[in-house]
Amino acid sequence: MKVGVIGCGFFAQNHLAAWQAIKEISSVIVCDQQVELAEAAKTQFGVRQVYDEAEEMLANEDLDFVDIVTTPSSHRLLVEMAARYGRHVICQKPLAPSIEDAKAMVDACKLAGVTLMVHENFRWQGIIQRAKQLIDSGRIGDPFLAQISFRTGYNVYSNQPYLAEDERLVLYDMGTHIFDLVRFFMGEVSSLYAQTHQVNPDIQGEDAATVLLCHAAGASVAAMNYVSAVEHDEFIQIPIRIEGSHGSLEIRRDYQLNVVSNKQMTPYHVPPVHYSWGSSLGGAVMESVVNIQKHWVECLNTGTEPHTSGADNLKTLELVFGSYESAAKSIVCHIR
Ligand SMILES: NC(=O)c1ccc[n+]([C@@H]2O[C@H](COP(=O)([O-])OP(=O)(O)OC[C@H]3O[C@@H](n4cnc5c(N)ncnc54)[C@H](O)[C@@H]3O)[C@@H](O)[C@H]2O)c1
Repeated sequence: MKVGVIGCGFFAQNHLAAWQAIKEISSVIVCDQQVELAEAAKTQFGVRQVYDEAEEMLANEDLDFVDIVTTPSSHRLLVEMAARYGRHVICQKPLAPSIEDAKAMVDACKLAGVTLMVHENFRWQGIIQRAKQLIDSGRIGDPFLAQISFRTGYNVYSNQPYLAEDERLVLYDMGTHIFDLVRFFMGEVSSLYAQTHQVNPDIQGEDAATVLLCHAAGASVAAMNYVSAVEHDEFIQIPIRIEGSHGSLEIRRDYQLNVVSNKQMTPYHVPPVHYSWGSSLGGAVMESVVNIQKHWVECLNTGTEPHTSGADNLKTLELVFGSYESAAKSIVCHIR
């Protein structure tokens, strides 16, 4: 398969490294408006051709799919452009700045007969997949409560300075991942109540959010921030606790997964598969990026819908934008 990657900035380093690790990918072409970043990718990742104009790349290259790793305000234009050229498309999260934009992108891809997947990599961490398998096998019974807590003081602004300027911060940037996990473990959400705070005075948006979400079978509490001073700040490891009718499950630091079932605790250690390349973010990130990109290739080969297709991701985005509305108006937000 031949992939065209648009955007060669911070996070694209992980995408590009992962494409090199996937045997079905025979050729990588890149494009960045800052052509020096595209040239650097060429040197580092064995890229075949470099462009500084996305449309030129689409017109010149016989791509199987496009991988968009630009910041969200450019996503709609680029996804619709890829659809016009009849190319399947992966797009980074958050898919779009508004639900209207996101729906238009999903519709454009449907109309063009191309597949759209949102690069929602968190659920592809090995430990998260293992937890889901254990729950689906019935080990803890029926889940009725999930607590997901993403608290970090990691300086996200050093790699992504644009985050400090965004008036919507942690719900938009991290909430997309956290709500995807909430849905992965607990199913769809019927209503939510959110509170947001800005703790760091030097940024524009909210850097702390707490959301209570209701599901048919129970509730979730999702807390996320970019400003906690915690003892063990492992950034991309996500502490999760899930209670079920017959037991409970907990993802702890150091890739520890503990399952209590029939009053017996079984510990599992699920460290990420180690890849020697990728960005500074660590093993779980690289593992999840390789896994989701393998999933995508398999979906294209088998004609199946990706787990986090564009249509699926609209439900995650409803939770992001619903949380902003809930927090702004201090109301419970009902999700259709
Ligand atoms: N899944 C994760 O854990 C994770 C982590 C970080 C970032 N991200 C996401 O990745 C995306 C990119 O973030 P980043 O931090 O790498 O941004 P970045 O600013 O470092 O890189 C984006 C690149 O895209 C290029 N670009 C923008 N518009 C373009 C266009 N029309 N044509 C060609 N090139 C264009 C820019 O020149 C820039 O080099 C965002 O959506 C972000 O939310 C995901």
